[in-house]
Amino acid sequence: MNDFSSITLHRGRKKKELVVHNPTSYPLIGKGVQGAVFKLKEDRCLKIYLKPENVAKEKEAMLKCQGMSFMPKFYESGPNYIIMEYIDGTPLGHFLKEQGTIAESITQQLVNIKKEMKSAGFTNLDCHVNRHIFVDQQQIVKMVDYASTNDRQSPIPVRLLNTLSELGLIELFLTQVKGMDYELYSEWKNFLSKSKSKSKSKSKSKSKHRK
Ligand SMILES: Nc1ncnc2c1ncn2[C@@H]1O[C@H](COP(=O)(O)OP(=O)(O)O)[C@@H](O)[C@H]1O
Ligand SMILES: [Mg+2]
Repeated sequence: MNDFSSITLHRGRKKKELVVHNPTSYPLIGKGVQGAVFKLKEDRCLKIYLKPENVAKEKEAMLKCQGMSFMPKFYESGPNYIIMEYIDGTPLGHFLKEQGTIAESITQQLVNIKKEMKSAGFTNLDCHVNRHIFVDQQQIVKMVDYASTNDRQSPIPVRLLNTLSELGLIELFLTQVKGMDYELYSEWKNFLSKSKSKSKSKSKSKSKHRK
């Protein structure tokens, strides 16, 4: 049976758990909190949503940025689904770990994505580096999951900056950003300095308590 309307979703017992019932032969690619994604063919996938109101949110965000290099193509939507371009890529966090460095062209694309999302009015710029950002075969950076791009005020890409710090690539990245967009550079540098001093004072107070 290959009618995707037979796929159903419901909440499981654990908080935020999504249970998928899939009688079709479309493979499940991944699932999040809002929905589950299935591969339809080489270049297309289907996202089914638990809550129909999230279809409208994601569709609006995707259409706003159609044509931008990072946005998957939008093909079709229905009451509880969107058919979009399937992104065949390596999750950004894994990609950077494998490379052991960050190329200028990747940094430039990340800077452009943040700027374009900001000017499109999205308020949540902190997305997951492995679940939501991919680098495709042509080294184009792609992003997925726009259902909650306006649910939170998160102007700093905290997860991205933390991953780059963990990989020892943050200094190189910031030097590249400095030459591309000074405003973003200062914003991100300030954030990192603040979080460094916060974690220092935390570890100081921990060692005080231990004494
Ligand atoms: N267009 C796409 N191409 C390839 N994989 C995708 C695509 N959209 C989503 N995915 C995969 O499916 C997972 C779940 O999709 P996501 O949009 O994050 O769902 P949710 O809104 O529930 O968090 C993602 O983490 C990603 O791995
Ligand atoms: Mg998600």
